[in-house]
Amino acid sequence: MQSFVYSYPTKVYFGQGAARQALEAELASYGPGVMLACGGGSVKRNGIYDAIVKLLRDAGKTVTDFGGIMSNPTYAKVQEGAKLARAHKIDLILAVGGGSVIDCCKIVAAQAKTDEDLWEMEFTHHRLPADVIPMGAVVTASGTGAEMNGGAVITSEGQKRKAGMAAAAPRFAVLDPAYTLTLPMSQVLSGAFDTLSHAMETYFGRSDADNVSDDVALAVMRNTVVNMRRVLKDKDDLEARSNLMWDAAMAENGILKAGRKTDFQAHQIEHQLGAYTDCNHGQGLAVIHPAYYRRIAGDAPEKFARLGQVVFGLPAGAAPQAAVDALAAFIAECGLPTRLGQLRSTAVIDKDLLRKVADSCSLIPTNPRPLTRDEVYDILCACL
Ligand code: NZQ
Ligand code: ZN
Repeated sequence: MQSFVYSYPTKVYFGQGAARQALEAELASYGPGVMLACGGGSVKRNGIYDAIVKLLRDAGKTVTDFGGIMSNPTYAKVQEGAKLARAHKIDLILAVGGGSVIDCCKIVAAQAKTDEDLWEMEFTHHRLPADVIPMGAVVTASGTGAEMNGGAVITSEGQKRKAGMAAAAPRFAVLDPAYTLTLPMSQVLSGAFDTLSHAMETYFGRSDADNVSDDVALAVMRNTVVNMRRVLKDKDDLEARSNLMWDAAMAENGILKAGRKTDFQAHQIEHQLGAYTDCNHGQGLAVIHPAYYRRIAGDAPEKFARLGQVVFGLPAGAAPQAAVDALAAFIAECGLPTRLGQLRSTAVIDKDLLRKVADSCSLIPTNPRPLTRDEVYDILCACL
């Protein structure tokens, strides 16, 4: 195993009523100015926003609204939030939403504390922000696990690049499965597929045999698939949504990655596809994964066979490609997109666009076999 240090900064409040429990316990530790951040309006329509405002006001806080955070949040939106946070002398940022709202707030928290351009700081000068405004997260769309890590995925529209930035990890996270009940089914499934992808991408990174993290990752994958099937049968199955919510956090809270290398090549391809198309993250992954895995299945045959057996119930020792077939069949069973043309996109997805994606995405050296740019292009073309 690789050496590692494991310590977690995020306190999790899980279960129905967790927002009240969390805010009553946490708010006294912060000053009066709270920036309440949300997306395009879902939490204002379903009442979650008003309930949180009441809890904040009851605790004597002054609330500054930072709304309209879009899916695949942009660097420009980060700057808007940072300006607001500075102007209102914000003491705590509370993100209420899915991965997009949480990620945007993580970078706002750091940008508000410095005049330096954070994108330049991280990607040109390879330095990390030294100071952040504390933040908390109330999850209303689960899947990314953003609530339990210090990374944020931000799109620079100018540079046509969607990239992971290091940022503030939430000090506390509220995971109330009932908050996800108003999510459209397509988002429930794309979020859950994102979780499955995180566990798979961690598992397929090069690791020693019998790595404990591999075994935990397989359990998270199996549980995610079981509970996706349960919500497909009954969209209001709160037990299934609870499991999916914790699966999401488990897949991205560092536990699965301890002591091992990870892969995340499918994510790198999807992020660049997102930079050019603004497509939904989990849906993009659903399209890319089978094509990527068909290409590398022969490079990690035992691992694919084990995934097929544990996660999809295939016989022991089945061919690696059978596991990929089972994954592709599961994606179709969930009604997730299987072709690039089915993604909602702001641009026409043609071979020219795919070439740009292939030429600009990061290539990961720790997957079963590093890909060339031409292979990434071929994988993407196989998804047309
Ligand atoms: O914008 P509103 O109106 O709030 O609607 C949102 C949005 O349309 C809606 N929604 C959220 N909660 C709802 C709800 N609708 C009804 N009822 C509710 N309770 O859901 C839609 C999607 O939200 P979004 O936050 O964009 O989705 P998701 O959670 O999948 O986040 C995607 C972003 O996270 C990044 C992705 O790249 C993408 O930018 N990721 C972040 C990661 C991280 N920080 O660890 C890891 C992931 O791999 C991922 O890259
Ligand atoms: Zn993801």
